[in-house]
Amino acid sequence: MLLSTLVEAAACFGTPCYVTDLAALDSAATKLRRAFPDPWIRQFSLKANPLPAVVARLAAMGVGSNVVSAGEWAAATKAGVPNHLISLEGIGKTDSELQLAVMAAVNGKPLRWVTVESKEEMSALEKLAKAAGLGGSQSSLKVLLRLNPAVDSETRADFQVGSKVSKFGMPEWEMRELVQRHAETSSGLSIRGIHVHVGSQLAATEGWAEGGLRAALLLAELAVDFEEMDTVDFGGGFPAGPTPPLSDFRSRLEQRLAMAGAELPTRTAVEPGRCLVAASGWLLARVLHVRQGQSGPQVVVDASMSELIRPALYGAHHEVIALDLSGAPSAARSATEVEGGVCESTDTFGVHELPPLRRGDLVALTMTGAYASAMFSNYNGRPRPPEVLIQPDHKLVLGRPGEPFAP
Ligand SMILES: Cc1ncc(COP(=O)(O)O)c(C=O)c1O
Repeated sequence: MLLSTLVEAAACFGTPCYVTDLAALDSAATKLRRAFPDPWIRQFSLKANPLPAVVARLAAMGVGSNVVSAGEWAAATKAGVPNHLISLEGIGKTDSELQLAVMAAVNGKPLRWVTVESKEEMSALEKLAKAAGLGGSQSSLKVLLRLNPAVDSETRADFQVGSKVSKFGMPEWEMRELVQRHAETSSGLSIRGIHVHVGSQLAATEGWAEGGLRAALLLAELAVDFEEMDTVDFGGGFPAGPTPPLSDFRSRLEQRLAMAGAELPTRTAVEPGRCLVAASGWLLARVLHVRQGQSGPQVVVDASMSELIRPALYGAHHEVIALDLSGAPSAARSATEVEGGVCESTDTFGVHELPPLRRGDLVALTMTGAYASAMFSNYNGRPRPPEVLIQPDHKLVLGRPGEPFAP
C-alpha cells in the first residue's frame, strides 16, 4: 500500500476517515489458511470489523463468519455469507436472537452452529426449538457449549476471558450436567462439541494451547457416551502483530495433545478477529490546532475516542504517522502529544515522534482495522466517518458512506 493512496483518500473523502487495504486483508487470510489449513474451519469474528465489504472479502478467501448478535448476522448475510458458514455465539443472546436461529433451522437454512453460554440459555433454546417443532423430519440445529477453561492466558488481565473468574462460559462440571440432561430431552438440537476462547492479543501460545487441550480432553470424555460430539472451536485471540506466528499456536496445541496421548477432534475451528483485519486499517485525521504542551508540542486532531476508543478504553497504543504536511516534513522530529477531539481527557492517542505540525496537516493512526469503526460512537454528536477501501489496483471505493454532518 502506498502512503500517497492514504493522502488521496483524505482528499477525496475528508477526515476523519477509515481506510482498509483489501490486499492486506487477502494476505492476512492467506496466513491464517497456511497456519490452519483445511479441514480446519476458519471463521472471522465480525466483532472486530463488521463492514460487509471486509466480511465478503474474507469469505471469498475461505474465512466464514462468527457473529454475536442478529445485527452481525445481518451484516454477514449482507456480505453474501450463507448461514451454513455462519456461527452464532455471544454472552448476551436474547430470545429473539435464539428464535431467529431456530427458525433458520426450521426453514432448512441452519447456521453452522450456535454456541450456548449456560444451562439457562440452553433451556431457553430448547424451549424455543420445541415450540417451533424443530427436529423429527426437520433439520436440526447444531450446538456447541462454551467452556470456561479456567486458564490465565498471556495478555492483559481484562482480555483474559478464559480465566476462572470471567463471566464467559461454563465450568467443566456444569457442562457435564448439561450434556447428560440434554440427552434426556428431544428438541431438535444436537450438541456437537465445545467452544473455548482464552483471551485476545495473546503474547504467547501457552494459554491458548492449554485452553484448547482442556476442551479437547473434555470432548473426548463426553464423546464416549455421546458419539455425535466431534467438534472443538478453539476461538481466536491471535495477536495483531507478527509474533508469535499463527502456526506456533497450532503446533503448540498439537504438541500438548500428543503429550497427553490425545488427538485433535474430527472437526476443528478457529475464529480470530484482529489478526485478520487490524493491520489492514488506517484512521486518517487532520490537525485542528497545535500548542506547546508540558513537554513538547500538543496537537489536537479531528479524530477522537468516538472513532477509535481503544486507547481510552484500555490504553492501547496506535502509532501515529505524519502524511501530508504544509511545513517541512524533513524538519527535526520531537515527542508530540496527539490528542483526540472530544471533551474527555482520556481521549488521547499518546506521545509520538513527529515533525512540526500545523492546522490542516494530515496524520494517520495505524493498525485500526480491528475494534475501531466497530466500536464507533456518536458521543459529542459526531457523525460516523466514511469507510473507504483500497482495491488491490490502488483504486479507492467507498465501503460505507459517512453519516451526514448535521449543523
Ligand atoms: C469468543 C470470542 N471469539 C473470538 C474473539 C476474537 O478475538 P480476537 O479479535 O482477539 O481474535 C473474541 C474477542 O473478544 C471472543 O470473545
